[in-house]
Amino acid sequence: MKKIQISPSILSSNFSELGNEIKRLEEGGADMIHVDVMDGHFVPNLTIGPPVIKALRNYSTLPFDVHLMISPVHKYIKDYADAGADIITIHPEATENLEESINLIKKLNKKIGLSLNPDTPIDIIKKFLPLIDLVLIMSVYPGFGGQKFIPKVIDKIKELKNIKEKQNIKFDIEVDGGIDFENSKLVVEAGANILVSGTTIFKNNDGNIKKNIETLKSI
Ligand code: DX5
Ligand code: ZN
Repeated sequence: MKKIQISPSILSSNFSELGNEIKRLEEGGADMIHVDVMDGHFVPNLTIGPPVIKALRNYSTLPFDVHLMISPVHKYIKDYADAGADIITIHPEATENLEESINLIKKLNKKIGLSLNPDTPIDIIKKFLPLIDLVLIMSVYPGFGGQKFIPKVIDKIKELKNIKEKQNIKFDIEVDGGIDFENSKLVVEAGANILVSGTTIFKNNDGNIKKNIETLKSI
């Protein structure tokens, strides 16, 4: 069985109980905590910023997988690093100089992820693949939890896996958006090794987080 890591998105959690929700995720077997940061500009929704991330840091020792959907992102990177992010993922469209933003995240000793929207081709980030830790493939248009998985991204995952194997480079392939108990198998078979999930983890089986994480992992 392939080793799959689960990164639950707190976007679908009970925001009035965020600290406890994160504890529940850790107890339920999550491998990291996916934090969706939205600015109402790069995406049409507004969520949480550095002070909230900082406050949550005390509730879990798991890595914080921070997905920045904000533009321009560059000037805010340090704030998220200081707040306690372990992985900082940015969208190439959200920065004027992608190389500079990658280097800044590396200089801050954080893992660097690049995220591709459903219509963004791998080509845009191809030359940076040897430098980064993770590619986050969006399987919905970013902005909201609870959307429907877009099947065409399966081919992009396969293409990325091919590049990874051919060039013998190491980075994680994480998939984000509309993941459920069926399509999770398809994305893992295609080459993903980290699954983000909000709705499936928090709402399925009457919110039985442990069971939902186990089911997603048991592929
Ligand atoms: C979408 C976010 C996702 C999303 C995942 O913009 O990046 O992390 O909230 O939630 P589900 O699993 O509900 O699609
Ligand atoms: Zn996300």
